[in-house]
Amino acid sequence: MASIALHNIRKSYGSLPVIHGVDVDIEDGEFIVLVGPSGCGKSTLLRMIAGLETISGGRLSIGNRMVNDLPSKERDIAMVFQSYALYPHLTVAENMGFSLKLRGTAKDEIGHRVQSAAKILALEPYLDRLPRHLSGGQRQRVAMGRAIVRDPKVFLFDEPLSNLDAKLRVAMRAEIKELHQRLKITTVYVTHDQTEAMTMADRIVVMRDGIVEQIGTPLEIYDRPATTFVAGFIGMPAMNLLKGSIQADAPLIFRTETGVAMPLSLRPGTADPGEELIYGIRPEQFVIADEGTPATVVVVEPTGAETQVVARIEGAWAGDEYVTMLFRERIAVRPGDTIRFALRAASDHLFSAETGRRLPEVGA
Ligand SMILES: Nc1ncnc2c1ncn2[C@@H]1O[C@H](COP(=O)(O)OP(=O)(O)OP(=O)(O)O)[C@@H](O)[C@H]1O
Ligand SMILES: [Mg+2]
Repeated sequence: MASIALHNIRKSYGSLPVIHGVDVDIEDGEFIVLVGPSGCGKSTLLRMIAGLETISGGRLSIGNRMVNDLPSKERDIAMVFQSYALYPHLTVAENMGFSLKLRGTAKDEIGHRVQSAAKILALEPYLDRLPRHLSGGQRQRVAMGRAIVRDPKVFLFDEPLSNLDAKLRVAMRAEIKELHQRLKITTVYVTHDQTEAMTMADRIVVMRDGIVEQIGTPLEIYDRPATTFVAGFIGMPAMNLLKGSIQADAPLIFRTETGVAMPLSLRPGTADPGEELIYGIRPEQFVIADEGTPATVVVVEPTGAETQVVARIEGAWAGDEYVTMLFRERIAVRPGDTIRFALRAASDHLFSAETGRRLPEVGA
């Protein structure tokens, strides 16, 4: 097992910089998820940790040892990719033991390690089968078995579940997490799926355009997003982000650009009245209230467990203000209906419109 430290890590492809100085300290045994939109540099960062990509600047340490120039095979890491191409003509056992065989490991030792990995992954009944006689999830487990037999200090995963159907993805997500809880091997897991990030991570690293936007536990990131980017990226449906400013004569009212008044529960310490701000409110923080603000229902999407409603807030004087609301209880509304809403206490977020950064709160 090992800790991993990235200090001011940079990467350029030719003259094109794609990673602009990333700092992350990963503790021994931690499960870290790198998440961010396509092209933000997740795979590049992971491949630098793996030693599959050169590092243009900064220091990378694994277990207190600087490894910038250490060849991949000496780093004691195992990587599982999205396309986990198994050898079609080799059995499950042979696939799992293949890398050990290449390294010249004794046959008995290979057999022993394959057996123990198969036990961990519940693959024992399938050891003599060929990959084409396995389900997608079983194949993915074989790919993980190949990594486990090497007894690595670090596991790296690059979108390992994106080829699986939705149901299998959820099942494998739980399996990988359970495996981590048993083996406690330091893991860096890349995904662009924020649900995977929220459910699997000890800590999430949110990336954007080659920089780190925020590092924190899933709930820290969900409850106190550091930027509007993180606020919009983590959470489904996304947080509502409304442009406007704090009303000077009523400091607990946020007035959107369209003229709608939203209640402010947190007093920002640094915003001046009139300063351009972004007000954030998560869809599940809306409640139906008799005396609440009226809004016209535009779209209703019931999923059975919950109802998503897009509504246009009434009273806007300059354009339309739409918000997405999510109700856990069933509500019988149709497009065109008027509903009245209030917000749960202390559920609003404030960001600077200029920098996108969260404002420090006073008295929170
Ligand atoms: N070999 C390469 N040569 C030049 N540019 C590259 C190379 N590999 C990646 N890039 C660029 O580096 C940036 C980061 O790519 P990377 O593959 O790390 O993104 P990602 O976050 O993994 O995206 P995705 O979610 O789509 O897999 C992208 O702009 C990409 O075009
Ligand atoms: Mg990638």
